[in-house]
Order: sequence, then C-alpha cells, then structure tokens
Amino acid sequence: MDCPYRDPRTPVEARIKDLLSRMSLKEKVGQMTQIERRVATPEVIRDFSVGSILSAGGSGPRENAVSSEWADMVDGFQRAALESRLGIPIIYGIDAVHGNNSIYGATIFPHNIGLGATRDAELVERIGVATALEVRASGIPYTFAPCVAVLKDPRWGRCYESYSEDTDIVRKMTSIVTGLQGKPPPGHPKGYPYVAGRNNVIACAKHFVGDGGTELGINEGNTMASYEDLERIHMAPYLDCIDQGVSTVMASYSSWNGRRLHTDRFLLTEVLKNNLGFKGFVISDWEALDRLSEPRGSNYRNCVSLAVNAGIDMIMEPFKYQQFADDLLALVESGEVPLARIDDAVERILRVKFVAGLFEHPFSDRSLLGIVGCKLHRELAREAVQKSLVLLKNGKDAEKSFLPLDKNAKRILVAGSHADDLGYQCGGWTATWHGTSGRITIGTTIFDAIKEAAGAETEVVYEQFPSAATLANHSDFSYAIVAVGESAYAESLGDNRELTIPFNGNAVINFLAGKMAMLVILVSGRPLVIEPQIVEKIDALVAAWLPGTEGNGITDVIFGDCDFSGRLPVSWFRKIEQLPLNAEANSYDPLFPRGFGLTYGKEE
Ligand code: GLC
Repeated sequence: MDCPYRDPRTPVEARIKDLLSRMSLKEKVGQMTQIERRVATPEVIRDFSVGSILSAGGSGPRENAVSSEWADMVDGFQRAALESRLGIPIIYGIDAVHGNNSIYGATIFPHNIGLGATRDAELVERIGVATALEVRASGIPYTFAPCVAVLKDPRWGRCYESYSEDTDIVRKMTSIVTGLQGKPPPGHPKGYPYVAGRNNVIACAKHFVGDGGTELGINEGNTMASYEDLERIHMAPYLDCIDQGVSTVMASYSSWNGRRLHTDRFLLTEVLKNNLGFKGFVISDWEALDRLSEPRGSNYRNCVSLAVNAGIDMIMEPFKYQQFADDLLALVESGEVPLARIDDAVERILRVKFVAGLFEHPFSDRSLLGIVGCKLHRELAREAVQKSLVLLKNGKDAEKSFLPLDKNAKRILVAGSHADDLGYQCGGWTATWHGTSGRITIGTTIFDAIKEAAGAETEVVYEQFPSAATLANHSDFSYAIVAVGESAYAESLGDNRELTIPFNGNAVINFLAGKMAMLVILVSGRPLVIEPQIVEKIDALVAAWLPGTEGNGITDVIFGDCDFSGRLPVSWFRKIEQLPLNAEANSYDPLFPRGFGLTYGKEE
C-alpha cells in the first residue's frame, strides 16, 4: 500500500494526518485503549486495533521468565497488531521503575528514594541509559517511569518511589528521562515527545500531579493546596521532564482540593497540554476510571466521559476494554465526547509511536540480550548503592568513630531479618508487584557481600536472630553487623501509620546491645521510628533505603573502600506525632534533618 504514513521519509506530523484520515472511529477508540497481556489474544489485538498492552506488576510469560522469553511474548503481540487493517504497531508498557525489575536476572538499581540521597543527576541519567537497554532487551519500548512525586509524608506507601521531599532534588533526578529516551537535539520543539532510537524507551512522568502531597500520606488521597503551592512543589519536576521531551505523562489517582486528577480538565488540558505545551499522550492509571465513582465501576459511561473530556488520551483499562470501547463510541455518537477530542488523543498516541520508530522497528532487537544484568550495569548499580547510603551515627562518642569496620577482624556476627534477603533488599516492584522475601533473582545480599569482602582469616557467623548459645560459643566477636527493615510492599499496601521497624528488628538490637559493638543497617523505603534509645545503644547507623541487587555497594563503604556521600532526601522524624514534618516549617525538630549525612572525612 503506497501511503505516506508508512514512509519514514514523510514528516511525522504528515504521517499522523494521513493515518488519522484513514482510521474508522472504532480504530481510533481502539488506539486509545491499553489492555493487560493476559487478555491480549490475537483476535482482540487485531480486531480492536488495540493501541497498547501492558504487564501489571510481575505479569509475564511465566514466573522468573528471562528477557528472551519476554521478547518472544511481545513480538507475538506485535505480529498480531501488524495484521490489523492499517497495521498500526502496539506499544508494550511495563513498570521498569528501578531497572527492568519484572525480568529475572535484570540489574535492580536502588529505588528512587536512595537515588535521591545521591543527589547525583549524572549517575541517575546513566541508570536511565542502562535501564532502557535492559527494557529493550526484553522487547519492550515503554516504561511507566520516572515517578516524580514529591513526598511530603513518610506514612505514604509509595515513599520509596519518590526521590525526595525536596522539589529541587526531584527536579535534578528527572535526568533519568534523558537516560531513558536519549537527549533531544538542539532546537527540538518544546513539549514534543522524543525517543532517540532502538536503545531507548518511551518514558512516563508520573503521577500527575501532587500524588506525594496527600493528607496523612494516604495513597490515592487528597492533596489540599493552593494552585501556587501545587505548581511550586509538585508540578515543577514535570516542566523538567517536558523540557527533556518526555513522551507520556500518567495521571494520578489522587485528588487536588477534592477533585479527582483523572477528571481535572484544568490541570490535564489547560495546564499540562495548553500552558506547558505537552505534545505526548496522557495515560490513565490502572482501572482509574472505576475509581471515579462509588461504588467503584458504577456509572462507568459517565466516568469515561469525564476522563476523556478532561484530557486523558490512553486509558489503562486492563480487562473491561469492550465496555470502555462501547461506552466511548456511544459518547462520541451522542456528542458528549467531541470527535475533536478523540482525534487529539489519537494524534498524540500516533505521534509517540512514530517518534519511537515503532512503525520502522516494531520487533525486539535480540542483539541486546547479552546486556541484561551485565557486569557493567551491576557495577553502575553498585556505584549507586555506595552513593545512596547515609551515615546517621558513627561512634558512641564524638572522638572515636566506629566505622570504617576492619574487614580482617577475627570474628564478625551478621544478624537481622535483612542481612541475607535479596527480596527485601530490592523491595516492591521487583519480580512481582509487591515484591517478596527470598532469593528472588540474581544478586548479592549484604551477607554475601560481607563474606566476599572479609579477610581470609576472618570468621563470619550469620544468625538472623542471634541466640544466647551463639554468643556463648563465640564469646569474642569483634563486632556485629545487624541489618533490619521493612518487608516488600507497593502502593496502598505500604500505607503505614506506625512506621516501627518490623520483624522484631528492635529485639535483635536490644539483645546484642551491651554485648558487642554494633553497626545497624536499616533497609527501608523511608524513615522509620528509631527512637533515641535505639540510636544510643548502637555504635553506628546507616540508612541503606532499598538498594537492589548489588549489596556489595554497602560493604564497599562500611569497610572503608569508599567514603559515605549520601545525604537524607527526607527528614527523619523523632516520633510519628510530628508528621508531616516540613523542613520549611518553623517548628522543624527532626531526629536527623533533610540533607544530613556524616562522612569519614568530617562531621557534616
Ligand atoms: C499502578 C500504579 C502505577 C503503575 C500502573 C501500572 O496502579 O499506580 O504507578 O504504573 O498501575 O502498573
């Protein structure tokens, strides 16, 4: 078929115009639909002209599937899409939010809160480059990342997906967009989506806007703020993403001053599209339209009308895509949703597809498979871990530092629920949606790393909950390294009002206190209650956040091969009652202030 939209020499806007003119209303509505892989049969993909398919967290070809199996799956979906009447390729999307975290053997980087502690934009850009390569190796051209939330309350279940409570740090870390998509050339039109080539992916700035500012940190809750504060605190990072050519933006489940973001035409269309000039597409969150009504899913057609008219272009409707399509077609026929709104949405979707080169290169590039979890990427992740660690206490008295530890000590006790648990080290959004405990992928636990680093004559004894017998049998431990922290969780499951150290972490600390010198490593997605009594009992305290697969980044620093450089990206409260703790408030009295971090060189 000789048609301009198929010719890569035709300018993108002309290709969009030509293709749009050939599409039926049904095909346009199909392009606005994103379905989950489990219902993506060839018939549905082809007959529906489905625009996109996604993996829910952990939804893949099988458990522990490797990249080549993912690429086979995605290529299969694409073949069906290219058989549709107009042969429009699908975009396959996944939450690669700290590496390609659903894929077995992928490099798992520290979660965003740890990257915020590095404050290192260049490092984070390199992580974007590496992540894009590993995502593409699995045949996937689209990641729902970065989350550019500005967290304001650590009780929020998605704290660890935020880089910081400080808007300026979050703005710096948006450099990951350039890493993921590639750097737009000089003169690239403002707000226009950009994807450099087959080693890059389509990024998604999320969740627009104010997801981290909800009252009491309630996930999907309500952010009360003046427009000026919403813009200054929560919207600023989106300007940086748009400046870097971010191709998509995901709307937030949350509300602003009581109005659901998914129905907020002022913010989604007047501000994001018209004022900020965003020319990519806005995607809804998972089954977000259902959440616009009570009971959930009721009055669905009205929810479709509200969301599409507000400016949502692609609807993440994983399973009830038929109802979505029927309702939207009816709404266009009745005039409640103008055809112009449909055309605007489809133009934006096609623009991203053309810009991403999907028409020219719809299938996976198998030459990338060797790069998944490669040494280079793991060294990059190890560097990120080193730079993310924050030293909160070093020595019981100012004169005598406890760290760095002697790696050639006679006998080291390693203890705690998180000392030898790769799953907990990676946290949520790893292997599965919520994440889980155990040896979930290829990686190095803290205990693995200590054994690797310790001297040949050094005895390393591991016991998760040390017993009196252990101590009696080994009366002369040089010191203990105790790793405790949070279980893996995601989204609302992480909402937490107490923030105490789970798994009896305090009990291990209290049991060992006074028996031997002790370093405590906290593996968590946020600050936890470490009331002064705990801090007083230990000799050193390190916040490791959720470091991912490269546990040796931790031993590199605690044994002194490199210095600490991390600084708190979030205030560390004294007690829960202080929350939300705001560095700008004049009653600011944290246990450790935002920006705090000790080094071997000098007190900071
Ligand atoms: C989830 C999250 C969003 C994610 C999407 C797809 O509910 O809110 O961050 O990208 O669904 O998994």
